Amino acid sequence: MRVLVTGGAGYIGTHTLLELVAAGHEPFVVDNFENASPRALARVGELIQRPIPHATCDVRDRSTLTEIFEDIRPEAVIHFAGLKAVGESEERPRDYYDVNVAGTLTLLAAMEAVDCARIVFSSSATVYGAPDYLPYDEAHPTRPLSVYAKTKLMAEDILRDWHSAHPQSAVLLLRYFNPVGAHISGRIGEDPQGWPNNLMPFITQVAVGRRDKLMVFGDDYDTPDGTGVRDYIHVVDLARAHVAALTHAEKTPGAEVINIGTGQGYSVLEMIRAFEAATGLEIPHEIAPRREGDIAAMQADVRRAETLLGWRARHGLAEMMASAWGWQSANPQGYTTDN
Ligand code: NAD
Ligand code: WQD
Repeated sequence: MRVLVTGGAGYIGTHTLLELVAAGHEPFVVDNFENASPRALARVGELIQRPIPHATCDVRDRSTLTEIFEDIRPEAVIHFAGLKAVGESEERPRDYYDVNVAGTLTLLAAMEAVDCARIVFSSSATVYGAPDYLPYDEAHPTRPLSVYAKTKLMAEDILRDWHSAHPQSAVLLLRYFNPVGAHISGRIGEDPQGWPNNLMPFITQVAVGRRDKLMVFGDDYDTPDGTGVRDYIHVVDLARAHVAALTHAEKTPGAEVINIGTGQGYSVLEMIRAFEAATGLEIPHEIAPRREGDIAAMQADVRRAETLLGWRARHGLAEMMASAWGWQSANPQGYTTDN
């Protein structure tokens, strides 16, 4: 299918482009490069041996977006574009509502203009909030704890209501757990700007010498070793889930919310040990106070993804670690210096 990919230059987007092309789809990227480098798209082009067609455009720019849709006539959309830093969302709520919520509305208007009725949306496990039980299944109540989480849930609601008004449409709301790792080539990967918010890029930046040590946020949680437990998923598996979602959307109208994780939880200390085992490096770390807003543990019930999409994660922790290091060690400063 012709697939318009918003935010396709970002971390998950670039990995998904490779899987889309491998599955025979024709992606077209729309990105404003606010949190991505054009070099990332160039690297994807190098891996598939042809350039990735793209336009520099903000998803809130309705007239340009509609022109692009009229030109490309996509049969489906994957909507990655968004702002994603939980802490920043509390400081800049207007920007988060604008990009993540208003941007989704603008995108729907552009889709309607060309009768495009299939959309795969990047939602997040963060919409669940504090767990009543684990693993979270998709029926678990949603109680977002941050502005970021609220924007994701609002966008989900908008897309569900849009489907109700357009019953022939296919809306797939993928709730990602914690994506980590990189493509096996080491040519693309996660390249956060400034201080990394997430655990995995922090570990690889310590390993490559950009940071002195990792602060472990809390060791007094009600978890086996006291540190936070998460469901980390290899970004290539996550990318494949988007291809499976498109296959489903091609044939089946409906609005579905689907967890995308492995179903396995690992603690911060287990993550450090797994990285050390996979790389032979040592990660200096220190126990620090809990980070505000963190929960002790979360992991996904992944049965729906398997039943509905025929998808399940294939890569384990060792591959997540080795590939994350493959990317970071070959690109110590991310995309800032090209080679
Ligand atoms: P990313 O920041 O690497 O990618 C997002 C892309 O969107 C970037 O290329 C950025 O330049 C682009 N973008 C931002 N605002 C835009 C705008 N107004 N118009 C056009 N393009 C814009 O992030 P990612 O990790 O690849 O995440 C992709 C999506 O998945 C996001 O919606 C994020 O909220 C969601 N998500 C990410 C995670 C995670 O941990 N990485 C977890 C759950 C959900
Ligand atoms: C993982 C664990 C931390 C950094 C966030 C968003 C979520 C989603 C994924 C977008 C926790 C601990 C972390 C560090 C640490 N993003 N940690 N030292 O918080 O589960 O989820 O990213 O949708 O919405 O909330 O991921 O990688 O930040 O943290 O000890 O320097 O690592 O306390 O237990 P999180 P994370």
